[in-house]
Amino acid sequence: MLRKDVNDLLTLTGPGTAMGDLFRQYWMPALLAEELAEDDCPPVRVKLLSERLIAFRDSKGRYGLIDEFCAHRGVSLWFGRNEEGGLRCPYHGWKYDVTGQCISVPSEPEESGFCQKIKLRSYPLIRIGDILWTHMGDAAQRPPEPQWEFAHVPPEQTFTSKRWQESNWLQAMEGGIDSSHVSWLHSGALNSDPLFKGARGNRYNHGDMRPHFEVVEADGGLFIGARRNAEDGKYYWRITPWVMPSFTMIPPRGDHPVHGHFWVPIDDQNCWAWSFDYHPVRALTREERTAMQDGFGIHVKYAPGTYRPLANKDNDYLMDRAAQKRGETFSGVDGIAMQDASLQESMGPIVDRTKENLVSTDNGIIMARHRLRKAVEALRDKAVVPPGVDPAHHRVRSASVVLDPDIAFVDACKDDLKVRPGVKQSSV
Ligand code: FES
Ligand SMILES: [Fe+2]
Repeated sequence: MLRKDVNDLLTLTGPGTAMGDLFRQYWMPALLAEELAEDDCPPVRVKLLSERLIAFRDSKGRYGLIDEFCAHRGVSLWFGRNEEGGLRCPYHGWKYDVTGQCISVPSEPEESGFCQKIKLRSYPLIRIGDILWTHMGDAAQRPPEPQWEFAHVPPEQTFTSKRWQESNWLQAMEGGIDSSHVSWLHSGALNSDPLFKGARGNRYNHGDMRPHFEVVEADGGLFIGARRNAEDGKYYWRITPWVMPSFTMIPPRGDHPVHGHFWVPIDDQNCWAWSFDYHPVRALTREERTAMQDGFGIHVKYAPGTYRPLANKDNDYLMDRAAQKRGETFSGVDGIAMQDASLQESMGPIVDRTKENLVSTDNGIIMARHRLRKAVEALRDKAVVPPGVDPAHHRVRSASVVLDPDIAFVDACKDDLKVRPGVKQSSV
C-alpha cells in the first residue's frame, strides 16, 4: 500500500507536479503518424499531461504541436484552416506556424511587427516508425531521439495502435508489469488468440498458477522475472522489462511477434495505452497484421471513427456471462486488452492505494513504484536526470526461456535482454 501523499506524487502529472516534471524529461508517443496522414490535413486535438494541444502538418510536411487556443481571444485552433504553411484561426484570421509563432495578424499593418511578438507554447513533433513523438520539457535538456527497437525495425516488421483508457496511467502501467494475472485473466486467450496460441510456454502458464517473482534493477528501470515450473525440474522464466517511466514489454511466445506498451497520461484520470507488436527479424505475415488490425492480441476494435475501444465502460465492456460460464473467457470480457482495461478502469479513475493488500507476486509493482518515487524526488530535489532518458536504456528486449533450476535469470539471459540486430528474440 501507499500513503495518500505518495499515491498523489506518483499519479498526478499536470504542469507543475513532480511526476509531471518527470514525464516531461522523455520523448513520448503523442500521435500515430496516420492521424496526420498528409500535408495540410485537418488538425488534431491532443491532450497530454493535462495540457490541451493541437497537432498539425503544414504544407511542407512539417509537424507541429502547439497550444490549442488562439492567442487573440482563446478560440480552439481545432477549428483552424490548415493552409499555406500554417494554421489560421477562423475567428479573425490570426495564423501560426508549426513552432507556434504567429505569422499573420490581418487586422494589423504588417510594418507594425505585431505578430512577431505573439508565440504560442509549442513542442517538437518528430516521426520515428509509426509514431509522432514529442518532448514537453525544457528544450535545452532535450535528450537524443528514442531508440526503441519496435520503432526502428523496417515498417513491414512492426505494427502500432493506441487506445484510450479511462484510468490513471499508473494503474494501467502496473498491469503491464504484473505477469501473475496472465494465468487467470487471460487463460482463455492463451488458447484462442491468433497472436498468442500454440506456444510451448503457454502450457507452463496454465500448469503453474503460483509464479515466483525475481526483480532485478536495470539501468533504465527493472527486469521483472516470473518463474514457473517446467518439465524435468527446470524453470520457465518470463522476463518483462520496464523502462522508466512507462514502457513495458511482454515476454514473447513462440515465434509470435513481440509486444508491449507505453502508458502515456492524457490527464490524471485518462491515459493512452500505446500498443506495439514487432518481430525483430522477419516481416509480419498478412494473417498477423490482419489479426492486429482486427483487435486481436493486445490491440482492440474501435468505436467507429475513434480510438476509444468498442467495448467500453458505457456498455459494460460487452460482458458475456455465457462465454465466461463456458470457460472461453475467465472474466466474461473478450480480448486481452479489454480484459485488462475493464478491470483497471473498474478500480476508479485513480485507485486508492492506501487500501491495497500486496503479496509476493506484486514485487515488480512495489519495486517500480519505489524507483519512480526515488527518481521523482531526485529530479525535484537535485535535478538528477532520471533513468530511461538515455536512449541506451531503450535497447532492451523481453524474453521467455527455460533454464536449469540453479541459474539466476539475469546471468543466463544477459544477451537475451538486449537488442541484438539481426538476432531473433529468445522465446519458447
Ligand atoms: S480568436 Fe483567433 S483570431 Fe481572434
Ligand atoms: Fe494483461
